[in-house]
Amino acid sequence: MIGSNTKFAQAKDNGDGAEINAKSNVKKIIIISTLSTGIFLLGLVLVLYVWRRKHQKKDETEDTLLDWPTRYNIINGIARGLLYLHQDSRLRVIHRDLKASNILLDYELNPKISDFGLARSFGGNEIEANTLKVAGTYGYISPEYAIEGLYSVKSDVFSFGVLVLEIVSGYQNRGFSHPEHSLNLLGHAWRLFREGRPMELVRQSIIEACNLSEVLRSIHVALLCVQDNREDRPDMSYVVSMLSNENTLPQPKHPGFFIERDPAEASSTSESTAYSANKCSITQLQAR
Ligand SMILES: *[C@@H]1O[C@H](CO)[C@@H](O)[C@H](O)[C@H]1NC(C)=O
Repeated sequence: MIGSNTKFAQAKDNGDGAEINAKSNVKKIIIISTLSTGIFLLGLVLVLYVWRRKHQKKDETEDTLLDWPTRYNIINGIARGLLYLHQDSRLRVIHRDLKASNILLDYELNPKISDFGLARSFGGNEIEANTLKVAGTYGYISPEYAIEGLYSVKSDVFSFGVLVLEIVSGYQNRGFSHPEHSLNLLGHAWRLFREGRPMELVRQSIIEACNLSEVLRSIHVALLCVQDNREDRPDMSYVVSMLSNENTLPQPKHPGFFIERDPAEASSTSESTAYSANKCSITQLQAR
């Protein structure tokens, strides 16, 4: 009896306590759920904001910053810079590592060729040299230089052609992939050119506000520059004149290295080859 009374009392006690507990629990649950919903919504807003900013920035660089006139100005600037190195400077200079990441843009987006770490200057009538230590960047390097270690102004011309195709298309040569074939950017450009649809190389965002004749001419000149046989490639003075007038252009032959090879396979064919990492980024100089 006593036992059951105390039990009852306990139960009654528990009942009151449970009621109070339940009320405070409901309050707690409401507070916690309001808080977590708030935090969740805040997080969502933050994620959306970051996502928007990121996309805005991306669109800006792709569409407004590097519009067609800017790209064409960059192509012409690099061509003139290279012509200066090859012909107009006191010594003939071969850059040997011309690539997108070695092109700096000033505040007016004018290109400057940089990084002369591998450059070689030639005196007198010397026009080519041979090296056992091939150094350059896979994707930009010409076949005769990569395979035989033979470099000349024409190996720079090859790299220039690759660079132009990258600037026109917005894609990298190395690492380029297409669902229909395993060609690199050179092979892809060559294929589209031969099939009479070179404009498919160009990104939609660039096509919308471009000068068709300048784009077609750039692609054509680039394909002349990347021809497999270096004798067929134009020199830089011819490149500059082809880019600046409307004369008809010669037909290009097939490019060198237009089938993407495995880098491991490539380095095993020439032991001494030192390739640096390939980057397709044109660096913009910050005004100080
Ligand atoms: C396109 O470019 C060519 C050569 O640079 C120029 O002569 C022509 O006026 C340009 N056309 C337009 C519509 O801007």
